[in-house]
Amino acid sequence: NWSMDDFIDMQIEKIRAEVGDKKVLLGLSGGVDSSVVGVLLHKAIGTQLTSIFVDHGLLRKGEADQVMASLEGKFGLNIIKVDVKERFMSKLAGVSDPERKRKIIGNEFIQVFDEEATKLHGMEFLAQGTLYTDVIESGTSTAQTIKSHHNVGGLPEDMQFKLIEPLRTLFKDEARELGEKLGMPSALVWRQPFPGPGLGIRVIGEITEDKLAIVRDSDFILRDEIKKAGLDRDIWQYFTVLPGFKSVGVMGDGRTYDYTVGIRAVTSIDGMTADFARIPWDVLQKISVRIVNEVDHVNRIVYDVTSKPPSTIEWE
Ligand code: XMP
Repeated sequence: NWSMDDFIDMQIEKIRAEVGDKKVLLGLSGGVDSSVVGVLLHKAIGTQLTSIFVDHGLLRKGEADQVMASLEGKFGLNIIKVDVKERFMSKLAGVSDPERKRKIIGNEFIQVFDEEATKLHGMEFLAQGTLYTDVIESGTSTAQTIKSHHNVGGLPEDMQFKLIEPLRTLFKDEARELGEKLGMPSALVWRQPFPGPGLGIRVIGEITEDKLAIVRDSDFILRDEIKKAGLDRDIWQYFTVLPGFKSVGVMGDGRTYDYTVGIRAVTSIDGMTADFARIPWDVLQKISVRIVNEVDHVNRIVYDVTSKPPSTIEWE
């Protein structure tokens, strides 16, 4: 019958005993798990922690700034933010196969992290946001592929770090509870799941700056309206996708020929199975009107009404 306060005290003691006066490196993804680890470690060892945050340009609108404002600004973490947007875009140019896109993003991510880590000296420990579910699932090949570049796997081979994984015994909801206990903002702690390849797998096919902007801006509007409708904690995951085809529309006196944006929103327990969310029509209508009015080159919105299986949650 342990409480979260006991857990925090115990972990802090354990981390201090293990780390001593050595230095710890952390890869921040912007997600819940690595952020919670960052705040916990900072509480335990302060400036002995250095974090690397790779901004690959495939994050949601405002996300990188939000992470920096909170973790660096409010909590005082020492974060090295690497802006590698152009590098990722050029690697992804001309690539449309989903698996190849994932591989490129994953490999490039590790490479950037590796390069930045090499520049730092005397790092003995590497901290990771591995959860209990990651530990169990890493036996299966899907989970390994899914998590490989952020969690259990994916360490640069020539780097000899000792691992620190303070969330190893926690489930996701416990990690969130821990974050709240540590005083982290609920916008960060209650963040919906977000895939490592980010918006890169929500632009279907080849990724271009223009298409990324459509997904980023429409996703922002969707999140805004879902929150305003008070549905953000009921719907497990919600986002927009850009299938990439154009269709005919009409605006004023003129015919338009522009993109379709798809809305995906699901209820789920663990992401393994999912059902499409029954968003009220009037909320969908608001989202639809706003996206078409506010995002250039969109003239049609469709809602994905398939469950998983047979579909997946993401479109790629
Ligand atoms: P699917 O599309 O397979 O997604 O039904 C199930 C859940 O996993 C997330 N997902 C990923 N997460 N790296 C991740 O960290 C990935 O490559 C990845 N692919 C999918 C997806 O967002 C959903 O929550």
